[in-house]
Amino acid sequence: MQAIRLRPASPGQPPYSPQNPAPSSALQLGNDVQIPMPTHAGELLVRIRAATVTRDELTWPEIYVTQSAIPGLDFAGTVVSTSSSNEESPFKPGDEIFGMVDTDRSSVWAEYAVVKVEEACAKPLMLSWEEAAALPLSALTAYQALFDKAGLPRPAFGDLRNRSHNVQETTGRRILITGATGCVGIYLVQLAKLAGNHIAALTSSVDRNRAFLLSLGADEVVETGNLGKDIRTYDAIIDTIGGKILEMCWSRVTLGGNLVSVESSSFGFDQKHRQTSADPREDVRAVFFIVKPSRAQLEEISQAIDLGLLRAFVAESFPLMDAQLAYDQCKQRSSGRGKIVLTI
Ligand SMILES: NC(=O)c1ccc[n+]([C@@H]2O[C@H](COP(=O)([O-])OP(=O)(O)OC[C@H]3O[C@@H](n4cnc5c(N)ncnc54)[C@H](OP(=O)(O)O)[C@@H]3O)[C@@H](O)[C@H]2O)c1
Repeated sequence: MQAIRLRPASPGQPPYSPQNPAPSSALQLGNDVQIPMPTHAGELLVRIRAATVTRDELTWPEIYVTQSAIPGLDFAGTVVSTSSSNEESPFKPGDEIFGMVDTDRSSVWAEYAVVKVEEACAKPLMLSWEEAAALPLSALTAYQALFDKAGLPRPAFGDLRNRSHNVQETTGRRILITGATGCVGIYLVQLAKLAGNHIAALTSSVDRNRAFLLSLGADEVVETGNLGKDIRTYDAIIDTIGGKILEMCWSRVTLGGNLVSVESSSFGFDQKHRQTSADPREDVRAVFFIVKPSRAQLEEISQAIDLGLLRAFVAESFPLMDAQLAYDQCKQRSSGRGKIVLTI
């Protein structure tokens, strides 16, 4: 099969690692890669139709655990076969599915991949392969940040049928979302609004992004440069930017509120802040986390898509053979809204 593999460093060069990440030129198309086979109960062989590019995947330790790893977490495709165990599978050959494999099992930049039943869900009928692949990692991150980590009440999407443009603020909670136009941010805004919250969306350019963010459900759009002047507080802040913006967010959380960051370098930000700040805000529940696959949550996201409550965004798509170009494009952050997708 065809697959993109990460070529090891040249002999005599230091091996690639998170400290010495592989350049995108190490992403190479192989034409005779062996098709993987399901070996354990609960596994599926999938003919991959679309996968996404994650901006910093070549800096993750997981990608260097195996030689010549195949990158890629988000996928959409067709079930080819299930594992030979007698266990009943929710899927059968021919089913169209989408999902994300766990971060230590990247493998979907390929014609075929083995995924776990728990990582997959039936593809929403109205989405293209590209749109379906664009959803899982970003939308699950947003879902888990809001409802698992910040503890906001989950919406019952079925009850919101036909009300996508008229969701009422019912909780009285004010939520600030940083990086609101980003891949994760666009689902944070949509899902937090569907849950009945008041949404303030932070962006580097109100001029450029106001109309878009209001269309997603934001109630107000705040320019990043104005965050320091904004003296209001929020019941929960979900951060996708990290660094100085995240540090400023501490003073914007309501007493007893939640501060969640998903930004890659924010690991341990709560301890760092509390060890160094004059105002450690012990009352704030602060957490960084890594998204986990979840079929149950994908089913809810899928229901919201089918009901027309949630929109998926594809910035640009490239054929698999142009994975190197797609990865470079993703790093430049200059593309349109949503994920960069590879079609296979
Ligand atoms: N922990 C997890 O499980 C998990 C899962 C997914 C993603 N992530 C991480 O979360 C972060 C966001 O991911 P993403 O896919 O949403 O990224 P993205 O699509 O690149 O979006 C980031 C957004 O943040 C804003 N932004 C970026 N850099 C900024 C800066 N220096 N200052 C101010 N604003 C900035 C931009 O919005 P404006 O131009 O509108 O300001 C941009 O749209 C990344 O670090 C990613 O690795 C983590």
